Amino acid sequence: AAPATTPPAPAPDWDALEQQIRSCQRCPLGAQRQCAVPGMGDRRPDWLLVGEAPGEEEDRQGLPFVGRAGQLLDRMLAALQLQRTQRVHITNVIKCRPPQNRNPAADEIAHCAPYLRRQIELLQPKIVLALGRFAAQTLLAEGGCLSPDELHTLPLGKLRGRIYQARIGAQTLPLVVTYHPAYLLRSPADKARAWADLCLAADALEAAAST
Ligand code: URA
Repeated sequence: AAPATTPPAPAPDWDALEQQIRSCQRCPLGAQRQCAVPGMGDRRPDWLLVGEAPGEEEDRQGLPFVGRAGQLLDRMLAALQLQRTQRVHITNVIKCRPPQNRNPAADEIAHCAPYLRRQIELLQPKIVLALGRFAAQTLLAEGGCLSPDELHTLPLGKLRGRIYQARIGAQTLPLVVTYHPAYLLRSPADKARAWADLCLAADALEAAAST
């Protein structure tokens, strides 16, 4: 089917949104997936974690971050005394697996963007953590945080380590960028920086709660 050009109608509630995502055929990835992966977790979370795209195991199970990167993510959450089902919601920039886990294409990200936007509107998280380059670029662009030029020239190491205020829908949300856990599995030396980012996000959450 030719990719859709008009955005999907905003889903009225969470169940409708999940259903819309699970049956989506707005881009060619829809025909290749086993399962779309809307996300999982608390529906009134403090934390929203946004990854890149489902991989092979996620595509099979219909759940986000269930492979090795997900195990590392769970350990990082546990270090903050969090678990993926309580106070946390986990999703991805794109909801269907790209073939051979290639990078998401710009048009795939654009087709999926209304779903992520609606998820954020319905979940109303208190802090957003962007995991890796694709989540960072998508959310920082959506939130009006950096110019397109800065977004596409700055490496992830220069985007992380600070708190942005992202305007998404009617909300202004603190947003922190950090390394993707799959990258951390390959580059464990950067785990300390990722931990610093998580602590920064936890501090931003605490500061927001006390105002
Ligand atoms: N990597 C991601 O970005 N998301 C997943 O759900 C799994 C691996």
